[in-house]
Amino acid sequence: MNKTQKPWGGRFQADTDREVEAFTSSLAFDQRLFHHDIIGSIAHAKMLARQGIITKREAKIIILGLQDIHSDIAQGEAVFYPGDEDIHMAVERLLIEQVGEVGGKLHTGRSRNDQIALDLRLYLREELKEIDELTQVFQGVLQQLARQESKTIIPGYTHLQKAQPVLLAHYFLAYWEMLERDRGRFADCYKRVNVLPLGVAALAGTGLPLDRAYVAKLLAFPVISRNSLDTVADRDFVAEFIFCASLTMMHLSRLCEDMIIWSSGEFGFIEIGDAFTTGSSIMPQKKNPDVAELVRGKTARVYGNLMAVLTMLKALPMSYNRDLQEDKEPLFDTIDTLKASMSVLTGMMQNVQFHRARMLEEAGRGFSTATDVAEYLVIKGVPFREAHGIVGRIVRFCLDQGKAMTDLKLEEMRRFYGGFEDDVFQCLDLENSVKRKKVLGGTSHEAVAARLMEMEKQS
Ligand code: ARG
Repeated sequence: MNKTQKPWGGRFQADTDREVEAFTSSLAFDQRLFHHDIIGSIAHAKMLARQGIITKREAKIIILGLQDIHSDIAQGEAVFYPGDEDIHMAVERLLIEQVGEVGGKLHTGRSRNDQIALDLRLYLREELKEIDELTQVFQGVLQQLARQESKTIIPGYTHLQKAQPVLLAHYFLAYWEMLERDRGRFADCYKRVNVLPLGVAALAGTGLPLDRAYVAKLLAFPVISRNSLDTVADRDFVAEFIFCASLTMMHLSRLCEDMIIWSSGEFGFIEIGDAFTTGSSIMPQKKNPDVAELVRGKTARVYGNLMAVLTMLKALPMSYNRDLQEDKEPLFDTIDTLKASMSVLTGMMQNVQFHRARMLEEAGRGFSTATDVAEYLVIKGVPFREAHGIVGRIVRFCLDQGKAMTDLKLEEMRRFYGGFEDDVFQCLDLENSVKRKKVLGGTSHEAVAARLMEMEKQS
């Protein structure tokens, strides 16, 4: 084959238009699959020889050629042509150039339709492992922060209104739980990625006596796809992966949102280290949480990638269609974005200084222990609804008087409910409020420490 000849040249009389060549080519982005493409091809060649479809000698020549091409591409020495439509055709052309006509036997019983499905699955398997490792490292940092801030009390919010005091450790472990669910989702996705597609050829299977079980064994696939049409048409695993990534990005983005708010002058809860913030080109005093903002912003791209893939798939007729080539850029972008975000946030969170006194000060404002007083009344036998009303009226009174509940005298409290005793003031104490939340999953020191212990045992 020369530069302009195509593998399908037999049927064609005219060369491909230059613009069409550029428009249809995926090489610019699917190059990143070269390693997995070659691994897959080596397994295929071994199987062809074992089945007597090519000779052992031919397989050996092909495999050695593929290994050379692998190192050439890895070292940036391979030369690609504009006519190389994708990584599969580029490798095949390089192989034929390198080893001669015998290279043309590699594609026996195979189509690029099952080949690309294989490459993507091989590639995604590895990326899923890396993502899991990055996630575990980040979870480790969250655990470390929880240990470090095991006594720090922050205001807990609902509706971004001060609600009840909670431990900062409990806050960090909330993100640990989210990431643990993410890991579970990715692990489940892995099962559907981990299926061998190779061997179904273009769409129908092949008349040649391929041994798919042998290829599955060589490439460590526990499952072999069972319908040739579905095999070449299926990109569920790509959509599923990007969905999993979307949820993980959403979790990271929510953490970032809190860090952005907390680092504002108005909150003043944290300061993000200089190495993980940026300045302003005009306002000399500024220190901006750009890393957190960008993770939040990049979450949108990943959602966009999910929409792109779902929309691309929605009306495809059976079976393979070239539209499927449009899965790669969203997939690769998702992987790059997720890994970069996870990694930079892992660094950022280790560079945050917590202003504990400021957090505590705010935790005490806004009647954050009002619910504790209502629970106090419940223990005294007051029905909860009534208790809620009593405490609500006390809060109203305090608001009118410009006082905090801790400013009230026992006599003043008793005007709202005669049964109040001195110990009610213990309920107003932040430390006690947190300690009381002993219920499984609650924010008490005890419950949080117990959960942390479970996590440590698990890892
Ligand atoms: N580059 C193509 C893709 O990403 C590979 C398969 C092409 N198959 C075909 N019959 N044109 O889907």
